[in-house]
Amino acid sequence: MKLTNFLINKNSSCVPIWFMRQAGRYLPEFREIRSKNPDFIKLCLNSQLSAKITMQPINRFNLDAAIIFSDILMTPYALGQDVNFIKNKGPVLSNFNMDIFLNNKIENFTNKLTPVYDAIKETRTKLNKEKSLISFVGSPWTLIIYMLKINKENNTLDKEIFSKKKAEFDLIFEKLNLFLCAHIKNQINAGADVVQIFDSWAGLIPKEYLYDYCYKPNKKLVDFCKNNKVSVICFPKGIKDNYSHFLDVVKPDCLSIDYDIDPEWARTNLSNVCIQGGMNPNVLLLNEKIIYNEAEKYLKIFNKYPYIFNLGHGLLPETNPDKLEKLIRFVREYN
Ligand code: CP3
Repeated sequence: MKLTNFLINKNSSCVPIWFMRQAGRYLPEFREIRSKNPDFIKLCLNSQLSAKITMQPINRFNLDAAIIFSDILMTPYALGQDVNFIKNKGPVLSNFNMDIFLNNKIENFTNKLTPVYDAIKETRTKLNKEKSLISFVGSPWTLIIYMLKINKENNTLDKEIFSKKKAEFDLIFEKLNLFLCAHIKNQINAGADVVQIFDSWAGLIPKEYLYDYCYKPNKKLVDFCKNNKVSVICFPKGIKDNYSHFLDVVKPDCLSIDYDIDPEWARTNLSNVCIQGGMNPNVLLLNEKIIYNEAEKYLKIFNKYPYIFNLGHGLLPETNPDKLEKLIRFVREYN
């Protein structure tokens, strides 16, 4: 069943299922391709391989949606920063240069990302028409964390960076919004029918700055998706009970909740919106009984609510694909 029909009609008679990072290192077939392609950015720019990887979890588990194999850091890459993925260290970007950043042109940006759009077209030809193809972007805040190499170690940031860097931040946010809208539009034109906005580091923003650096930039992207008649899912990870303010201001079609959100609280306080996810990905590393109990908790709480089964963050590389398969069967049989 297509996620789009579900999101538009707020259907609650069945529970579609897909996973963040469903195409990733926990799959041996992914690791096989990855071992022959040490440069991650180059792999994302290989349309044939990207489409093939996107289809791996669909072929294995027949999930309801595919998410294009790419990365949120393709945006800074296409805006002129080098991006390297270093084993056990995560992504490392070359230094941000404001002049290079401000001189970027949409046409050149689009040209650099053409292989991503070709991968979407290619995937659309392989994917059953009844399934959704999800495209995505990182939110401006989450991208800036990587682009400006802001320290993520402290749970809340030194508030001075907001007052000291306000003019610089505002300039970057405005320009990033234009390029993210172009990236969204290009992905829709290539055949994506849902957009997910990842604000993975929203939880670092102090409450008094959430409006400016989380809600407002997410709302601009959500409005852009709505104007382009495509469904949009937001994932403002880590903002705790501010999820309800986020919903009031941003009004996406669907809210993806993280594992810190109490699902009972979400059902009561996040109304008139489809809810996605929530279950802690670490649970999948435990025994089957615990996995089913946790999954059942979410299914019971969101029974008769528009709910998409997913996790509270991406699948971990240590996840056993056989356990995931059993979880998927459990959710489908529960339906
Ligand atoms: O299956 C999918 O979800 C689609 C593809 C996808 C990837 N990254 C592939 C990937 C998506 C949607 C992303 C989003 C992404 N990328 C986010 C937002 C979601 C989140 O996890 O919070 C962020 C913050 C990134 C940046 C990023 N990319 C990091 C921090 C890392 C390294 C650490 C990690 O989580 O693996 C990546 C690498 C990356 N992106 C991998 C994959 C499959 C692993 C690459 C490898 O094989 O080493």
